Amino acid sequence: MCGIVGYLGNVEAYPILIDSLKKLEYRGYDSAGIAVWCQGKIEVARHKGKVDELRGACKNGFEGKMGLAHTRWATHGIPSERNAHPHRSQDVVVVHNGIVENYMELKEKLRAEGDTFLSDTDTEVIPHLIKSHMNKGEDFVTAVRSSIDDIAGSFALGIIREEEKTLIAAKKESPLVIGIGDGEYFIASDVPALIGLTNRFIFLEDGDMAVMNEDGIHLTDLEGKGVDRPVQVINWTAAMAEKGGYKHFMLKEIFEQPRAISDTLIGRIREESGRVDFEELELPGISRFKRIWMVACGTSYHACLIGKHMIERNLRLPVEVDIASEFRYRDPLLTTSDMLILVSQSGETADTIAAMKEGKRKGAYTLAVCNVVGSTLARECDGVVFTHAGPEIGVASTKAFTTQVSVLYLLMLHMGQMLEVLDQDTIRQKIGEIKKIPRKIQLALEENENIVELARRYMKYRNFLYLGRGINFPTALEGALKLKEISYIHAEAYAAGEMKHGPIALIDENMPVVFVSPHDQTYQKTCSNVQEVVSRRGNILLCTDHDGHEMREATDTLLHVPGTDYDLQPLVFVVPLQMFAYHIANLLGTDVDQPRNLAKSVTVE
Ligand code: G6P
Repeated sequence: MCGIVGYLGNVEAYPILIDSLKKLEYRGYDSAGIAVWCQGKIEVARHKGKVDELRGACKNGFEGKMGLAHTRWATHGIPSERNAHPHRSQDVVVVHNGIVENYMELKEKLRAEGDTFLSDTDTEVIPHLIKSHMNKGEDFVTAVRSSIDDIAGSFALGIIREEEKTLIAAKKESPLVIGIGDGEYFIASDVPALIGLTNRFIFLEDGDMAVMNEDGIHLTDLEGKGVDRPVQVINWTAAMAEKGGYKHFMLKEIFEQPRAISDTLIGRIREESGRVDFEELELPGISRFKRIWMVACGTSYHACLIGKHMIERNLRLPVEVDIASEFRYRDPLLTTSDMLILVSQSGETADTIAAMKEGKRKGAYTLAVCNVVGSTLARECDGVVFTHAGPEIGVASTKAFTTQVSVLYLLMLHMGQMLEVLDQDTIRQKIGEIKKIPRKIQLALEENENIVELARRYMKYRNFLYLGRGINFPTALEGALKLKEISYIHAEAYAAGEMKHGPIALIDENMPVVFVSPHDQTYQKTCSNVQEVVSRRGNILLCTDHDGHEMREATDTLLHVPGTDYDLQPLVFVVPLQMFAYHIANLLGTDVDQPRNLAKSVTVE
């Protein structure tokens, strides 16, 4: 996993490449590099660390109107300058996102031909292979094609050479888009990297290769046969991909949630008629689905767990939820009467894509819930519903999660109406409830200053326990994940009823326990859990929608949120947990938007 960008046009490439690379830093940030072409010469700079460090290292030179750049998340070879991309062999320069699985074997072969390798990466074999084919008489484009044929694995590639102003891009199982400008071309791992430069994009499919030069763009498959790909217009604006006065993208994205959810609802709900419809989705023969599977990774997996509660409770349809990396290898019992819902912000997570392929192989209907138009999942699933969160840049997911949960709720209502298991009055009432959510989240956000104070009190602890029941067990999982991801504090979530079966042994005055406890049928049970913690001198942080609650005395800290319909509780309850994690991390001074060892979308296994 890494981010790549490329440019070919009439203006200076360096500033475009560096600025776009910066927007891709969420994909990896342990080293970065750039190559700029100028009249028959390619200048390369690489640096360990982030894009700003690379920028600092590129004081002079780097003038030219074509180039490539790369930000790395190490797979093969430690983060270091010598392992940073671009990699080159003589005049050929390559950036790569993906994994060359047979690189050892290829390296041996190339070594036997006399090549020397300067890095520990898998990627370095690619420029050497291209050179090797060119030395045997192939032209540049043919040599790239032959080299791709030699490699097993995944790739998004940007390739240039000194002798000609030609930019080659190719893709298999790693994301790559081409931006079309005015007499200029861009390549990037995703659309947000190019926001503000163009709004016209071609999404390459697996096995596509694009050759760009001053005469235009030529798209082929790997055999060299021409392919047609539509140019799609995406109207994300530059402001959407900027911090807008917030210290971090994550904080901005937390505060954007009311807007993101409103955008996700627009055009889909009709309260008067009690209908929910998706313009982009037709569900053919819906009654044939006897079971639903929901599969995802990370935060998106937590959204699936919430979706299961909603669908099973309201539609009485069985739902299985699985982690994509488990699902793909366990020969799941899928049949043609199953629907497989893949939830993913990026639409590019390798394990989730593999799960989709497994589902297709077994004949299930595949449906993507995703945020990025044109992403692999969005293109390859049988159906797709988009969350309209806008670009999410912070590595720790926030608004993508709440819009995913909102879409799953709408999907549940849509299916209920198609299957005629929900009547119009129920749907109307439930539409009314979700329409109130943006306002309720706004109220939860108003607690921000109080949460900063709480964060000051709690930042000294090294372990946290998060407990919730029913539909809020996943909320607790998500709250704990947020804290872990950005503050590096150990946090574990349990179904509250499980506390007595193990975690209770951990409780003492050094273990804060965060209870996610709405005033619903689970409330009294949670009161008992609170007492159990109090008697062991545990420190309680209670997140509730209940005003006159019995737990006030036992509670050290109260986080109050507005009440809502049972199915929608996670949308409101997760907000203070996101803010709590954010403020602790900010006070501890961690890199909130790019926490160590993580990446926004994991496009390798
Ligand atoms: C990475 C990110 C998480 C994200 C997960 C799934 O691990 O750090 O924030 O939830 O991938 O990503 P997806 O794009 O499939 O939702």
